[in-house]
Amino acid sequence: MTERSNFGSKLGVVLASAGSAVGLGNVWRFPTEVGNNGGAAFILIYLLCVLAVGVPVMMSEFLIGRHTNANTITAFSKLAPGKWWRIEGVAGVFVAFLILSYYTIISGWTLYYLVQSLKGALLTDQDYSVYFNSFVSEPFTPLLYAIIFMVMTHLVIARGVQSGIERFSKIMMPMLLLIIGILVVCSFGMPGAGTGLRFLLKPDFSKVTASVVLSAMGQAFFSLSLAMGCLCTYASYFTPDTKLVKTAVSVCSIDTFVAVLSGFIIFPAVFSVPNVSPDEGPGLVFVTLPNVFNIAFHSIPVLGYIFSGLFYMLLLLAALTSAMSLHESVTAYVIESWGIPRKKASAMVSASCMTLGVLCSLSFGVLSDFTICGLTIFGLFDFCASKIIMPAGGLIICLFVGWYLDRKLVYNELTNCDTVPFRLFRFYIFLVRYVVPIAIGLIFINELLG
Ligand code: TRP
Repeated sequence: MTERSNFGSKLGVVLASAGSAVGLGNVWRFPTEVGNNGGAAFILIYLLCVLAVGVPVMMSEFLIGRHTNANTITAFSKLAPGKWWRIEGVAGVFVAFLILSYYTIISGWTLYYLVQSLKGALLTDQDYSVYFNSFVSEPFTPLLYAIIFMVMTHLVIARGVQSGIERFSKIMMPMLLLIIGILVVCSFGMPGAGTGLRFLLKPDFSKVTASVVLSAMGQAFFSLSLAMGCLCTYASYFTPDTKLVKTAVSVCSIDTFVAVLSGFIIFPAVFSVPNVSPDEGPGLVFVTLPNVFNIAFHSIPVLGYIFSGLFYMLLLLAALTSAMSLHESVTAYVIESWGIPRKKASAMVSASCMTLGVLCSLSFGVLSDFTICGLTIFGLFDFCASKIIMPAGGLIICLFVGWYLDRKLVYNELTNCDTVPFRLFRFYIFLVRYVVPIAIGLIFINELLG
């Protein structure tokens, strides 16, 4: 087998992993969940979930990946030869593929909206829900944009770990952070900033129910790219001196920071326009925001042009770095287990994923009446991935590290053979053995019943 690549620098490690985590989940899904679940109280619970569940699960994925230096399926087979644990690796690669197929479709929408905002088309008086619905239900245009997006992802992955993933993450992540900074400042200057900030900062605990807690946990999983082998695959490119605990804490902090700042961008803007409500669901970014841009910047269209252009650019960059990680976890498997060279492997993954993506995209239009158990194809993929296989994957990873793996191996991996102190090791083991499995078990039961 050829020599395996590594990330070339510490910064590359953090930016690539943060790139995987920061995605549509932060800028699109998080504000939607905050809006639907009553604001600040949801954010507090979310923070708790990131600390108690997100950080330990991420550390576990990192240690599995770095210890085995292999794609997710091989990683589990190496650590537990001939055992059923391998099924987690198989599920991870399979679901990364599934998620990529519909993630690409939504990412294609963001690319379309970016182009439209640069053409000024999002600053005209029109009903944006009609605009959005007629765009997504049309068969060809959304697919065309999804294909362009997939080609972009493919080109990065085909270049490999250092000159593809690491290099582009180092360019895109700083750009993304810069854009967020600019947009937060702009948003604070909007007339609704006060109301928006109050919504985000003043917790109303009367809105907290079991299902809100469980949504926060599901959101943490999705946003941190957990349980699907993405971070395991990236960790297999970490060098022996990469500090796993520190990296996991940095990645979780960056991801959470971006999610909260996205709230700070979106809610002041949303509240600055009368009769627009923050709990409009998934249309928040594609329907509510164009309305806001149009109304709020009516008298100074140049600002609206810049604001909307930057906003969709932000979404696109975030989506691209996440799609790269989903793509890489499948491609790494194809390269290593089927012995296919990277460029060809990457092309095979892109093409087959896009084929599945066609079905997802058409399920918003031509195929919208085709349902399985009441869900469209897109809905079904999302349901299977985020509501069934993801929580189950997180559960299995924790049980694997907490109960199956040798304690010494886990300790050595997290402390780089006792050279980096990790005082909370026993607490970490307590979390992965008991707290996280029980918490995930609860989400799982709730999702299935609800
Ligand atoms: N975390 C990304 C986001 O916030 C999406 C993502 C990338 C993902 N890789 C993943 C989600 C693996 C689940 C599993 O948009």
